Amino acid sequence: MTLALVSASEIPVASASPFLKWAGGKRQLLPQIRRFYPPTFNEYAEPFLGSGAVFFDLASRGLLDGKRVLLMDSNPDLIACYAAVRDRVDQVVEHLRRLEEGHRSGGSRFYYGVRDERFNPIRRSLARERAGGSADDVELAAMMIYLNRTCFNGLFRLNARGDFNTPAGRYANPTICDEANLRNVSSALRVPGVELRLGDFSDIADLTAPGAFVYFDPPYAPISRTANFTSYTATGFSNGQQQQLRDLVITLAERGSSVLLSNSVAPLTTRLYETSRKARRAGLRAHRVPARRAINCDGSSRGTVHEYLVSNVDPAEVDRR
Ligand SMILES: C[S@@+](CC[C@H](N)C(=O)[O-])C[C@H]1O[C@@H](n2cnc3c(N)ncnc32)[C@H](O)[C@@H]1O
Repeated sequence: MTLALVSASEIPVASASPFLKWAGGKRQLLPQIRRFYPPTFNEYAEPFLGSGAVFFDLASRGLLDGKRVLLMDSNPDLIACYAAVRDRVDQVVEHLRRLEEGHRSGGSRFYYGVRDERFNPIRRSLARERAGGSADDVELAAMMIYLNRTCFNGLFRLNARGDFNTPAGRYANPTICDEANLRNVSSALRVPGVELRLGDFSDIADLTAPGAFVYFDPPYAPISRTANFTSYTATGFSNGQQQQLRDLVITLAERGSSVLLSNSVAPLTTRLYETSRKARRAGLRAHRVPARRAINCDGSSRGTVHEYLVSNVDPAEVDRR
């Protein structure tokens, strides 16, 4: 008998795709984003992970093979959910199947029961930053996926107390448990060198080396005072953080990393990236690209808007490859 030895790096990740719907998810912008993938890089970091559209795209194209990959977000529920899918996908699928059955028979009543009587109380009772996992993590991960697939617009919205409070969505037949994709995601996250981390984007300078490719997809700067959804966490994302992020992007560009950042076209971002001499001197260019914005808090401005892709990678060079 011949034993075929398959190393972990050969685990197929080709078909893994985002398993959560996420406000600001970048699936639709991928054709534009791909133009800024640098020809060479030695490690990849994504500090605003969300549903990870760019990570899964890079991984499925084999562009991360053999590289160190750092996936980070400041949302503890999100990172714990990814970790549970990575480490205990069988149990996550099992719980999710039960939730799917409950939803098929109970609809929105079942949704509110899970959200208010199970998900939020367990979250409240756990210090999410603790090291290691617990049995609750698997159930919480399954509930997070279930609520995400069935809630209004896939929003992860927290109230001032930190409770998840998005109402039920109105979907006739939502996909709740996509077992094949969850297993592919689990494999993609278990590839040696891939690291999940709970943290703030500002840690990224210390966590990456020159030559890295870093993709930043922060909560977007508001186009107007009411237009944008930025409450991914109870604290939101301030203008001061946008400024701090811009300075970080410049630091990384200056030390020889390839950077790509997406953001709204807004007075603040125009000042920080398009008309800033400091950004230009660091080799950054702000490209306005057409994008369909999928989630707005009032739903009034759906349609084509322009967004920024800011990078020190020249898309013309990449287009010629
Ligand atoms: C626009 S979403 C990213 C969407 C992602 N690119 C996708 O394809 O789904 C922004 C993410 O940034 C995270 N975030 C907000 N503030 C942060 C911070 N200070 N540091 C790290 N992540 C943060 C949010 O939790 C959210 O997941």
